[in-house]
Amino acid sequence: MDKRQVIAEAAFYAREQLEQDSSGHDWWHVDRVTRTALLIAKEETADPFICELAALLHDVADEKLNPSMEAGIAKVRDWLKNHEVEPAAMEHVMTIISTISYKGGHNPPVATKEAQVVQDADRLDALGAIGIARTFAYSGWKGQLIHDPEWAPRTELTVEAYRNGKSTAIGHFDEKLLKLKNLMNTATGKRIAEERHLVMERFLEQFHREWNGLET
Ligand code: ADP
Ligand code: NI
Repeated sequence: MDKRQVIAEAAFYAREQLEQDSSGHDWWHVDRVTRTALLIAKEETADPFICELAALLHDVADEKLNPSMEAGIAKVRDWLKNHEVEPAAMEHVMTIISTISYKGGHNPPVATKEAQVVQDADRLDALGAIGIARTFAYSGWKGQLIHDPEWAPRTELTVEAYRNGKSTAIGHFDEKLLKLKNLMNTATGKRIAEERHLVMERFLEQFHREWNGLET
């Protein structure tokens, strides 16, 4: 297995699989997550090959893009087998992909340093200016309102409610985005999350000022 070759082919595969997505999992999301994962891996001395490969493939198995999560996972496993990725690396990447997703915060904490790195990189892409943009893109895709002052955040979300329930774009900040900075695994991830959190808080403050006509 030539690691550089596997990475190049994984990038090609992810790009081809996610090119058409408009739900927030497009190729450029994967590209950003991969670059952030490599940056965090360097600071946290995690294995860069595992982090890069898992980041590139992390959304290929998503249930939004496959008949089911299981079918998606099997597809990625077949891809790794066909590309002769060593069994230990393959198991590690598969574990990362199947455990990092948010699912309403119900998943147990991830186990390895590399999983922590990729999970932080994926979560960081939901924060800050990009996180705000993705939230509104996803909301439009799902047919949600921008904001509904009568909507109350669902605090105790089940996995089902999280995946299927409608909220609002602004509601999603309380539901998930403002919680993420306290769920970061690595020191580097935490540092970047703090900064992106402030960007979201400033945005929300201004949003509500405009909504309530308080700009005099
Ligand atoms: P990922 O798998 O990349 O962690 P998700 O599938 O949970 O992300 O969501 C993709 C993007 O859409 C993220 O930026 C997320 O914050 C946003 N998003 C997810 N659910 C909602 C929702 N109910 N309302 C608005 N935005 C959402
Ligand atoms: Ni993702």
